[in-house]
Amino acid sequence: MSVYEVGVFQRGFGTFPLRGGVLTQAIRDAIEVGYRAFDTAQWYGNEADLGAALTNAGVPRDEVLITTKVHPDNMATELFLPSVEKSLSDLRADVIDVLLLHWPPNNGPVEPSLELLQEAHRRGYARHVGVSNYTTAMMRKSLTVMDEPLAVNQVEFHPLLDQATVLAASAETGIPLASYCSLARGEIFKYPVLGEIGERCGKTPAQVALRWILQKGVALNTMSTRKENIQANFDILDFQLTPDEMRKIETLASANFRISNITVVPYAPTWD
Ligand SMILES: NC(=O)c1ccc[n+]([C@@H]2O[C@H](COP(=O)([O-])OP(=O)(O)OC[C@H]3O[C@@H](n4cnc5c(N)ncnc54)[C@H](OP(=O)(O)O)[C@@H]3O)[C@@H](O)[C@H]2O)c1
Repeated sequence: MSVYEVGVFQRGFGTFPLRGGVLTQAIRDAIEVGYRAFDTAQWYGNEADLGAALTNAGVPRDEVLITTKVHPDNMATELFLPSVEKSLSDLRADVIDVLLLHWPPNNGPVEPSLELLQEAHRRGYARHVGVSNYTTAMMRKSLTVMDEPLAVNQVEFHPLLDQATVLAASAETGIPLASYCSLARGEIFKYPVLGEIGERCGKTPAQVALRWILQKGVALNTMSTRKENIQANFDILDFQLTPDEMRKIETLASANFRISNITVVPYAPTWD
């Protein structure tokens, strides 16, 4: 079972690009709403702020699931474990719940960084380990390196992008998926079909898009600085999209809208 299938962890709260007071307030709101899974990364520069915000919010540590990610520039042998030790200290944690490799080395070999990840796991620095932005070939390759299948591949996942191949590889390899840019950073709002379906369900277009992701079997990461959106993004378990509605939403993938391209992120591999 995926680590994100436990309790409320399926609906994660993302923290990019929040820092300082804005992050603290968003975390306070998210905890009040009911979120207990939080997503950060060394790259975001907010692990210390998140660690402080969670401590100050007073939520019992064993109720919380923190995912963080090793920066691509820390994949060298001499940098990897010290960077994880800093993450542990910044997050005020004895162990990282889910430790990910943030990006693969473009199309380069994945074995060296996976072996470092496995070492972090063996040393007890992380309870679960996984990756982000892996292609299907990399997902398959990971099975030959790791002692056990990775806990997650966190990928861009929203209705405007066809990720059927990655979903199929998830089923084949036993590596669960989690989403990022789940609302395509607002691009989904250009497509009226989400609002039309939302009218039938009494839900907003954002809630329909997030529900679609959950019904695809993918754990969610959403981010908002507004309490009403933080609440809305959590309130998506009390309705169901019909198979016909799921198919209608699937047609939006023809937009082929991807945020994480090589032009935006220099580490991006050639996508499936
Ligand atoms: N692994 C990776 O490489 C990677 C890459 C990118 C992101 N991530 C993670 O995934 C998380 C989520 O992705 P994201 O934040 O980039 O993209 P996103 O969830 O698609 O979009 C966030 C934007 O949507 C708005 N929004 C949120 N809920 C809304 C709602 N219900 N109605 C209308 N607007 C809404 C927010 O604005 P308001 O604040 O105004 O609500 C925010 O500007 C990040 O925070 C980060 O933790 C991971």
